[in-house]
Amino acid sequence: MIESLSWHLRSFMGFDMATFQGTSTYIASAELSEIVNVAVDLQKPLLIRGEPGTGKTVLARAVAEAMSLPLLTWHVKSSSKAQEGLYVYDAVQRLNDSRFGTGNVHDIKQYIKLGPLGQAFSAPHRSIVLIDEIDKADIEFPNDLLHELDAMSFAIHETGETVAAKQRPIILITSNAEKELPDAFLRRCIFHYISFPQPEEMKSILRVHHPHVEEKLVEQCLLRFYWLREQNEIRKKPSTSELVDWIGALVRAGVSIKCLEKELPFLGVLLKKESDIQALKSGAKRPTRY
Ligand SMILES: Nc1ncnc2c1ncn2[C@@H]1O[C@H](COP(=O)(O)OP(=O)(O)OP(=O)(O)O)[C@@H](O)[C@H]1O
Ligand SMILES: [Mg+2]
Repeated sequence: MIESLSWHLRSFMGFDMATFQGTSTYIASAELSEIVNVAVDLQKPLLIRGEPGTGKTVLARAVAEAMSLPLLTWHVKSSSKAQEGLYVYDAVQRLNDSRFGTGNVHDIKQYIKLGPLGQAFSAPHRSIVLIDEIDKADIEFPNDLLHELDAMSFAIHETGETVAAKQRPIILITSNAEKELPDAFLRRCIFHYISFPQPEEMKSILRVHHPHVEEKLVEQCLLRFYWLREQNEIRKKPSTSELVDWIGALVRAGVSIKCLEKELPFLGVLLKKESDIQALKSGAKRPTRY
């Protein structure tokens, strides 16, 4: 229903519709594909949330690959400032050049280093910008980007130049919800929560990573994995990335399906907290279904 509505909206508005559907290495659900296409068509940033390891970061790579566009990644840290995504003025280098007589200190342009957003705005072609883990920075970070995301332009004060996007970049933003994002910022984005994959979707994801692993072994791993996630005593539940690694470890060691029925080898690949491992060992039951 939602899919067909958005299709009608997009065709009514006369867009040349985007058709992202995942790639050979990234399995995107119908809802995720649809929301990516809507964000691309409406030229709005797409904010992605979801459990750790559910493919938020690699989504940007998949969209870039599917659309054959360059990807510029901005890994946000607790110390990151919004300005750094646009440009940084290297005053220290200029000072050193003036002290040691190196470089042309009158050419301020050479001391301006564009950040990922700045590079995307100034590029002659369309790019994809991933702003990864926006919630790592302080609350001012998203607020400070509001104007640039609206106008898709910014001024370089040191040179008096204005950089305006020739083609609006596709902006993908990920968040682990460590902090609430401001309402004004949310208003400018389209939002999607990546739900944890159901077993059938997970099977397709595993096929991408382990194409040659026996079907029966994959089934047994899924059974154990979803059982593990259901255990209430486990606080940090294993995610897609842990399952991918776990199957890799099992295959490498030649673990049999029979053994998996009784044991969980390489538990440290799935559980990353000592308390979870202990809790599981003391209250372990046998899985019956997933
Ligand atoms: N839909 C998918 N298709 C293919 N591989 C996937 C998918 N989802 C997750 N993965 C695998 O899981 C790994 C983790 O994905 P990614 O780093 O994008 O997770 P994340 O959601 O960004 O996690 P975090 O919140 O910890 O940063 C990827 O390297 C990829 O191998
Ligand atoms: Mg990530």
